[in-house]
Amino acid sequence: MTESGAYRQAYDAAAADPDAFWLDAARAIDWDVAPTIALDSSNAPFHRWFPDGRLNTCVNALDRHVAAGAGDRTALIHDSAMTGARVSFTYAELLDRVSRFAGALAARGVGAGDRVVLYMPMIPEAVVAMLACARLGAVHSVVFGGFAAKELAARIDDADPVAIVTATGGLEPGRTVDYVTPVAAALAMSTSSPRAVFLTRRPEIDIEAPGDWLDFHRELDAAAPADPVSVAATDPLYILYTSGTTGKPKGVVRDNGGHAVALRWSMTNIYDVGPGQVMWTASDVGWVVGHSYIVYGPLLAGATTVLYEGKPVGTPDAGAFWRVIEEYGVRALFTAPTALRAVRKVDPEAALLRDHDVSSLETLFVAGERLDPDTFAWASRILDRPVVDHWWQTETGWAICANLRGLEPMPLKSGSPTVPVPGFHVGIVDGSGAEVPAGTEGNIVLELPLPPGTLTGLWQDDDRFLSSYLAAFDGYYLTGDSGYVDEDGYVYVLGRTDDVINVAGHRLSTGSIEAVVGAHPAVAECAVIGIHDETKGQRPSAYVVLKTGVDIDDDTLRSELVAAVREDIGAVATFRDVTVVQALPKTRSGKILRKTMRQMVDGDEVVVPSTIEDASVLDALAALFRA
Ligand code: COA
Ligand code: AMP
Repeated sequence: MTESGAYRQAYDAAAADPDAFWLDAARAIDWDVAPTIALDSSNAPFHRWFPDGRLNTCVNALDRHVAAGAGDRTALIHDSAMTGARVSFTYAELLDRVSRFAGALAARGVGAGDRVVLYMPMIPEAVVAMLACARLGAVHSVVFGGFAAKELAARIDDADPVAIVTATGGLEPGRTVDYVTPVAAALAMSTSSPRAVFLTRRPEIDIEAPGDWLDFHRELDAAAPADPVSVAATDPLYILYTSGTTGKPKGVVRDNGGHAVALRWSMTNIYDVGPGQVMWTASDVGWVVGHSYIVYGPLLAGATTVLYEGKPVGTPDAGAFWRVIEEYGVRALFTAPTALRAVRKVDPEAALLRDHDVSSLETLFVAGERLDPDTFAWASRILDRPVVDHWWQTETGWAICANLRGLEPMPLKSGSPTVPVPGFHVGIVDGSGAEVPAGTEGNIVLELPLPPGTLTGLWQDDDRFLSSYLAAFDGYYLTGDSGYVDEDGYVYVLGRTDDVINVAGHRLSTGSIEAVVGAHPAVAECAVIGIHDETKGQRPSAYVVLKTGVDIDDDTLRSELVAAVREDIGAVATFRDVTVVQALPKTRSGKILRKTMRQMVDGDEVVVPSTIEDASVLDALAALFRA
């Protein structure tokens, strides 16, 4: 990075005069009422971006490109490795479907500010439904299909939607995942009573659904197209639930204006993808990465986005990534390191890459978990292109740290997502909130206010927003990650400081798994920790103490607990490991020493807290882990 380079200039400009910087960025968005003010801090720490602006996000994603004459440009390509389907939609076609589905939602009473919960596989109807909500000013909340009925019910309870949009099911390698049963079960469990359920009947998945559910396509075909509804920039666009440290998910709220401005800016400056160029984000619409870079980012930029249903391996082989890149001329691929590890495991020399022309690919972006140096070296070698790690969270909605390929590509350093993106002010502090010197690990915090596009709060829970993120260090947002900054200003993110774990790029709470394990009648107490997994990065592992006098063999207990976690949380938890122990290490006040256990399992140096209740428990565990 040069002191006078484009990155430094942009970073300094955003820091010195955020109003001027973000009002300038806001010019890339079409407004109904252009904002004259960038930041409103009158209700700090609840900061708001573009308080006097009005817009519609769907218009910015679709209508304006059609109006500008780009209606024939491809907006969305659906490629299903599961069914063989390959369908593409121009901007004009997507706009037609979205407007009509918005009409169908409106006809069932969905209006501005109403919530709509989506529980969808990776099919175009998911994108259509998200944009249709945005068109009406309604608030979508997409729930990842790997979550079970109880998790879905918790989100329905919290969002209290007017409508649900779902499909008969998803396709996973070797099995069909029924979505109808969990949606019906979640509705039965929930205190909320949505007025309508829209169902996409997939030809491959024929499942009987309740008679009063509406057929997605029949309703869409019959509906009059809905006009876009102008909303305040500060109005919510979506709620996305993510795992916190307790079992209750956090409803991260994203606004319309800040989101549109930030994502549009990121497409040019981070991803270097513009109109007509192809971006493929191999994630799921149920995660933030899918929201931002399968759906909104590419469409806001007038680019072409690929919606891929399939896995990086096994559908049918480890050449899936290379096939899709070749077939659609993908310029930027965005995936998670775990997917690259999965490919490497099956095809270590990337022999399948030789069967494909991937010359269109400029950059491979990864996020969702730390890009380990081995995978970075491997991917860089086989692709001979920049492999760019960038660090972000559901809460931030876009990258906190990145190598900004469009603004000023910088040297890549293994293990680092490079530098803070303009607008983000990264600090590393110790437990007392004091900044630590370069090279020293500490809590990664972000100085307030956060830039546009980041969370405006948690859905109807200001107290939790304050206590989860803002209470630890005055004036800072707590990321929950630890790391350090080197002498060159490069940031290194090492891992979570809380009980959130990251399994195959999916964020999970060990607390929610503990709640399920702890409810088993044989279990007196338990601790679930994230342990290192070669492919998935981490996986949950449960240590359980049985109730006195209980007679259950380990295999039975394990299979009952695995079934319970799958039933209550979902397959996504990837829960398989159960170990029965005599006791768990605790402090004298009864707090389980999960961090110490994690260190022991991972073979790291163990710092034994002085407050431990009974140190001999640790010796017993150490013997167990050594075995
Ligand atoms: N609906 C229903 N079930 C789902 C699902 C969905 N949308 N997605 C995953 N599951 C199920 C899987 O079938 C699997 O079930 P199983 O235990 O019966 O095998 C379980 O949830 C775990 O899935 P996953 O963690 O995806 O493991 P996998 O072995 O199927 O695939 C990877 C492993 C690494 C290939 C895959 O996780 C991947 O591509 N990850 C990319 C990560 C990503 O997209 N992150 C988002 C942020 S970038
Ligand atoms: P999620 O909210 O699901 O996107 O998960 C966010 C968390 O994933 C972060 O707080 C980090 O712990 C981890 N994470 C995401 N991207 C990266 C990255 N590039 N490097 C290290 N950790 C990451």
